[in-house]
Amino acid sequence: MILTAISVVVSILIGFITIAYAFCKWRYGYWRRRGVPYCEPSFPFGDVSEAFLGKRHLCCVMQDIYSKFGDKPYGGVYICYSPALLLKDPEIIKEVLVKDFGSHFQNRVAKGHEKLDPIMCKNLFMLRGTKWRSLRNHMSPTFTSGKMKMMFNLVQEKGQLLADVIKRKIPEEGIQTVDFKEMLAEYTTDVISSCAFGIETNSLDNPNHEFREMGRKIFHRAIFIRPEVTEFFRKVVWDVVEEREKKKIFRGDFMDLLIQLKNTGKIEETDSVEEKVETSSLSYKKSMDPILKNFKGDDFVAQIVLFFGAGFETSSTTGSFALFELAANPEVQEKLIKEVDTKLAATGGKITYEAVQSMSYLDMVICETLRKYPPLPIIDRECMKEYRNEKYNLVIEKGTAVLIPLFALHRDPKYFPDPESFIPERFSEENVKKIPRYAYMPFGEGPRNCVGARFGALQSKVSLVNILSSFRVSLTDEFKGMKSLPIYPKLFVLGVEGGINLIATRR
Ligand code: HEM
Repeated sequence: MILTAISVVVSILIGFITIAYAFCKWRYGYWRRRGVPYCEPSFPFGDVSEAFLGKRHLCCVMQDIYSKFGDKPYGGVYICYSPALLLKDPEIIKEVLVKDFGSHFQNRVAKGHEKLDPIMCKNLFMLRGTKWRSLRNHMSPTFTSGKMKMMFNLVQEKGQLLADVIKRKIPEEGIQTVDFKEMLAEYTTDVISSCAFGIETNSLDNPNHEFREMGRKIFHRAIFIRPEVTEFFRKVVWDVVEEREKKKIFRGDFMDLLIQLKNTGKIEETDSVEEKVETSSLSYKKSMDPILKNFKGDDFVAQIVLFFGAGFETSSTTGSFALFELAANPEVQEKLIKEVDTKLAATGGKITYEAVQSMSYLDMVICETLRKYPPLPIIDRECMKEYRNEKYNLVIEKGTAVLIPLFALHRDPKYFPDPESFIPERFSEENVKKIPRYAYMPFGEGPRNCVGARFGALQSKVSLVNILSSFRVSLTDEFKGMKSLPIYPKLFVLGVEGGINLIATRR
């Protein structure tokens, strides 16, 4: 009896695997049938077995495939059994991200799950179609350079605290190993908590602060937000909104701008706090965009949580990876220290918005860091309806994922000779013109690029200026002889396993 049951189960299982195998085999003929160059996939993970099994990051796997396609402008890959098109040629990338974006490539592939993850699926990153377009149009003024200037003092306050905390760790003329990855994650958590929630988390002094814990949890499971994290942020957001609306508090931060959007249907272009107080009344409700009439509840919370997640992780990665490269390239570090000292001498040592923005070598260092380590190493678009491009003899079926491998493009020797070397001069005023526009895009490109690019770059720059005006960094034995940081395979964003431990010496 038992034996019969077992043999039935085994037969069903074998039948199931056979059908799945036959289905995949047929699917794996997709690109061949369409005459598109492709990499030979294997059952059951297609071209991305190593990434699925956690052996290598998806961006490194894509980099290998990108190289295998040689001079071809694009090629077909299989993510498990789903065909996706990998773009190589900057000109086709431009067509997808810019020229034909509105008609064919507005959406990302990931949708989020309404029930399992009610916050993630409502944020600007995940939204699709007209909902995305409307919210994007209304949210863009949140990040103008005027708004960045308004928030600068909040950012610099935390930058100063970052330097103070390191100073406390290192006695006068002393040396200390510091985990800059954790240190900068605490700094950006404090910045974004202040700028998005108006809450002083002080995780630099208290690394176990619940905001820092929540940040760790957001990135623990890639694109899903755990229910307890959702609940935590719902409560925090509505407590802050209630307090601000009751007491008419205005700090000029992200929360204020989104409250303004919730109540009036738009964010004012004005860049001064005084004018904002006037315009945050309900007087615009009459002309409110119908889509934004429902900008409340989780729709509102979702944007703040996105700012929190996107704001702290990407910028702290950039800052700490830059410090690793500065430690590995002492001549670059000395050149940057010289620039920081010269510019700060002119302000009597005060770190101002204008001083930071005038540091052109700092800008080049950040650009080069983002080249080697784009925090979001692959971006994607989903084809909304059949796409035909005669020039490239390309037909993309509705629903196909289109992948743009930033990491691979940024390390392509055709555009960046000796790509493993850290050379900020690639981005000097003269040299930057030689880089094809769509071969370098750490913040993406086109109407769906990163809205927070200015803020992200500013946060990273402020951390470096505060650190380098008091310290030098050098490599610990762990990193000596390494040309590039090894990419941790199990994260959705770019990261390293463990910390970035560097030796900090007081200057
Ligand atoms: C160094 C820092 C940062 C990097 C490298 C970065 C990179 C990116 C990239 C590559 C994308 C996708 C763009 C595309 O698909 O074309 C993106 C989207 C986005 N980023 Fe950032 N980001 C950074 C910081 C920030 C910050 C600080 C915020 C907010 C406070 C932010 C908010 C967003 C949002 C909302 C989107 C989705 C835009 C949309 O779909 O319309 N990012 N980011």
